[in-house]
Amino acid sequence: MSNEPKAPLVKLNSGNYIPVLGIGFYLTPEDEAANIAYEALKTGYRMLDSAEAYANERGVAEGISRWLKEDPTHNKREDVFFTTKINDKFHGYEETKKALKDSLEKTNKIGYINLVLVHSPQSNYEKRHGTWRALQEAVADGSVKNIGVSNYGIKHLKELLSYPDLKVKPVINQLELHPWLTRDELVDFCRKHGIAIEAYSPLTRAKKLDDPDLVKLASKYGKSPAQILIRWSLDKGFIPLPKTVHLPRLAPNFDVFDFKLDAEDVKLLNGKNEDLKFCWDPTVYPLDNEKTEKK
Ligand SMILES: NC(=O)c1ccc[n+]([C@@H]2O[C@H](COP(=O)([O-])OP(=O)(O)OC[C@H]3O[C@@H](n4cnc5c(N)ncnc54)[C@H](OP(=O)(O)O)[C@@H]3O)[C@@H](O)[C@H]2O)c1
Repeated sequence: MSNEPKAPLVKLNSGNYIPVLGIGFYLTPEDEAANIAYEALKTGYRMLDSAEAYANERGVAEGISRWLKEDPTHNKREDVFFTTKINDKFHGYEETKKALKDSLEKTNKIGYINLVLVHSPQSNYEKRHGTWRALQEAVADGSVKNIGVSNYGIKHLKELLSYPDLKVKPVINQLELHPWLTRDELVDFCRKHGIAIEAYSPLTRAKKLDDPDLVKLASKYGKSPAQILIRWSLDKGFIPLPKTVHLPRLAPNFDVFDFKLDAEDVKLLNGKNEDLKFCWDPTVYPLDNEKTEKK
C-alpha cells in the first residue's frame, strides 16, 4: 500500500492538476536519473522536472515506469506529473514537432508527457510562434497534456498571449525564484493571467544556505535552511523544484508540509531581494524590434 506523504495539488488553467512540489533533474546524470526518479516517487514526490537539455528524459521516464510496474494497484500513471522542455535550438514549428517526437520516443514507457515548457524565449517571433503552434497541436492530439513556458519575461508573455491563433494559454511560467530574486512584477503579471509559477533554483543552488537570518529561521522552526527556502516558495504560492542527486536529501526536501512560515518571516525573507541570479536570465532576452533598435 502506498502510504507515503504526498504534496497537495493545484489546479492549472487547463483544468489539470499539478503537485505543489516537484524534484528537479538539471545536472542529474542520465545513468542516475532512473534511480533518483524511482526513489523520489517512493518518498512521495509525484512531479519530476526534466528537459531535453538535461539529457536525462529517458532515465527519468525509466524510473517512473519502474515505480508504476512495481505496484500497479497503487502506483498510477495519472498520479505522476512529468515535465520536459523544448530546447532553444529546436524553436520553430517543424523543429519543435521533431523535438517533441524525440522526447515522446525517449519517454514512451510512460505514454504521454504531462507538461512541455518552452525552455526559454531565446529565438525570434516567428520561431517562438511556430513552437507554440506545434505545442498546441500536441495538446490537441493528446500526446502532451499541458503546455507552458520558462524564463519568459512580461514582454514574451504579452507576445504569446497576442498570437492571432492562440488556442491554448501557457499553464505555467517556470522561473528562477528565491528570497534573493522575488521578481514581483513578473509574478503579478503571471497571476493576473492565470499562469501558475514554478520556482527553479529554489535552494539558491545551495549558495545561500548559510545566510544568518535563514539559519536563525531554521532554528526557530526546527527545520534546515533548505526546508525553510522550500517552505518560503510554497508560502509565496510558487511550485518549487528542489534538485538533489543525494538520496538522503530526498525525504527532508519533501518534509515541508507540517509547518508554515509566520507572515513576518515570509516578509523578512522577501526583504532579501536583490535581483540576484544563480542561473541564466533569458527573461530579458530582446524581442525582434528591440534587437533592431539596438543596431
Ligand atoms: N527552466 C530553467 O531554465 C531551469 C534552470 C535551472 C533549474 N531548473 C529546474 O529547477 C531545478 C532546481 O534548480 P537547480 O538545480 O538550479 O538548483 P537548486 O534546487 O536550488 O539547488 C540544487 C543544489 O542544492 C543542493 N541541495 C539539494 N538539497 C540540499 C539540501 N537539503 N541541503 C544542502 N544542499 C542541497 C544540490 O546538491 P546535490 O544534488 O549534490 O544534493 C544542488 O547542488 C533544476 O534541477 C531543474 O529541474 C530549470
